[in-house]
Amino acid sequence: MALSSNNDINAIRSKADIVAIISSYIPLSQRGKNYVCVCPFHDDHSPSMSVSPEKQIYKCFACGKTGNVFTFVSEYEDVSFIDAVGIVAEKCGMEFKRSVKQENTFFKTEYEIMNLTQKFFQNNLRTDAGKEAMKYLLDRGMDEKIISEFGIGLSLDSNDSLLKLLTKKGYDEKLLIDIGLVNNMGGKFYDMFTRRITFPLWDKDGNIVGFSARVYRGEKDVSKYMNSRETKIFKKGETLYNYHNAKDVAKREKKIILVEGFMDAIRLSCSGIKNVVALQGTAMTKEQIELLKKLRVEVVLCLDNDNAGLIATLNNGEELEKNNVPISVIRLSGEKDPDEYIVANGKEAFIDNLNHALTYFEFKMNYLKQNKDLSKVEDQSDYIKEVLSNLAAKDDLILREVTLNNLSKEYNVDISVLKTQLDSIKPVQTKVVREEPVLEVVKKDAYMKTVEKILYFMMNGLEYVEEYKNKLGYFADGICREIANEIVYYTEANNDISVADFISYVSDKDSIRDRVMEIVNASANDEVSIEIMDDYIQAITKVMKRNEIKRLKLLMKNEMDIDKKMKIAMQIAELKKEDV
Ligand code: CTP
Ligand code: MN
Repeated sequence: MALSSNNDINAIRSKADIVAIISSYIPLSQRGKNYVCVCPFHDDHSPSMSVSPEKQIYKCFACGKTGNVFTFVSEYEDVSFIDAVGIVAEKCGMEFKRSVKQENTFFKTEYEIMNLTQKFFQNNLRTDAGKEAMKYLLDRGMDEKIISEFGIGLSLDSNDSLLKLLTKKGYDEKLLIDIGLVNNMGGKFYDMFTRRITFPLWDKDGNIVGFSARVYRGEKDVSKYMNSRETKIFKKGETLYNYHNAKDVAKREKKIILVEGFMDAIRLSCSGIKNVVALQGTAMTKEQIELLKKLRVEVVLCLDNDNAGLIATLNNGEELEKNNVPISVIRLSGEKDPDEYIVANGKEAFIDNLNHALTYFEFKMNYLKQNKDLSKVEDQSDYIKEVLSNLAAKDDLILREVTLNNLSKEYNVDISVLKTQLDSIKPVQTKVVREEPVLEVVKKDAYMKTVEKILYFMMNGLEYVEEYKNKLGYFADGICREIANEIVYYTEANNDISVADFISYVSDKDSIRDRVMEIVNASANDEVSIEIMDDYIQAITKVMKRNEIKRLKLLMKNEMDIDKKMKIAMQIAELKKEDV
């Protein structure tokens, strides 16, 4: 991610007054030491949002939205976090330089290794060992510019060249296995990618998180592509190939083209059509739909020209439609996929298809015609009924009128008959009426609530983090432990912490961001003091101790060795003694 250092961002945040910035968008009125306004993030009728000048955060009591000045601008203007920082900086007359340097992130080492690997692969392609692979790429119509734009590289014939390079640089083999670059086969370590042309895979923010690698010597007995497995940084279902490059162009062009293979995306992109992303397969996950939905642009489905591509167009179209994403469809003919289509017919022919894309409704109507013999009355009747039942779900009056007219003319049916039939069909509700946001009420037990209080306190100052380090240092719950680790990491890097700044820090950390916001929202009005924190810590310690005693008792029960049994009993006694 193009993230500037936390220090720059924090400097801008401390200069920007959240009250002044929010009131430049919506009216605020003072209530006690805070300000209130109508929440712009849900359909609010009375002021549910409170803004704290002291904490420099806002929170909505109704929909649960919480954040600092940047997340407000980011959500309100529908721009990325980093763009919001730019906007806020401008509003306060400050300069904000973006650097592309990766800084201050929990996965710093992992990304560092990925970037090194990427450089290694890219370099391989340009050595003697890469001649054959380079020829393959050039024969496919690629050129030097495309090859470097998409970071195409080569993994060597040797089984451990990457492993050697990375371990020589001091990286631990275990970590290399963890991030999917190395395999452990019976205690021996090998490179995951060998003898293949490599394509880096990026997450939505542009970090290299994995690779896909293609055979290029016509090998028949192995699979064409080999992909990184799921790791802590690579979540296949959460990425769309080329998303980070395409999203800004897509917003400008107000559409994004969705293709199946990344080769298709590369071909379109180097033909000047840059608003393209690839699914890397046919099925679409809910996270991918979210990514597309966030762009608020039309999605042009342009999947492969085979039956699988047709069915996938239908299925993905339904899913997108359910999510109120506007869709259109291109069905190419002749060649197998958009890549081959452009090679055979040129980019103008593709652009022509793009300009004549079908609406999803038109596509579906055409699809319904397939496998029907429309010279037969029964088939005609089936077809008309299917069209009408699809139409019933639409509230677009013009679409209804035009479709009915066409059907009437095409099949010689009186329009009033069609209308009566249409009115008799109960619309299937596909459109979701604007939902009132409902705060998800997750029942949390007292223990979890206490852990979250401690985490909130830790965001309020170094002294609270020290208290945690000295008296606890660990949480059993995975995500809470991750948040605590991030807080500790943050304070070590910045030597300071505030709730508002920590919110900036987690803005690109998908795994913990929502939970952090939830925690802040729940506690934003709490009074914080070391005494209160100590009460929480004591309560937690008690529970931890009780759990430890339980664990030891079980251990003792199953222990056969008398000496060991005694030792455990003493441990238990010790723990019980400390307990007050
Ligand atoms: N894919 C894969 N493993 C395979 C085949 C395909 O992971 N053995 C994924 C790849 O992400 C690929 C996508 O499915 O981009 C589409 O597959 P396909 O249409 O076969 O790939 P093409 O884009 O046509 O690749 P090429 O032109 O290089 O043959
Ligand atoms: Mn292809």
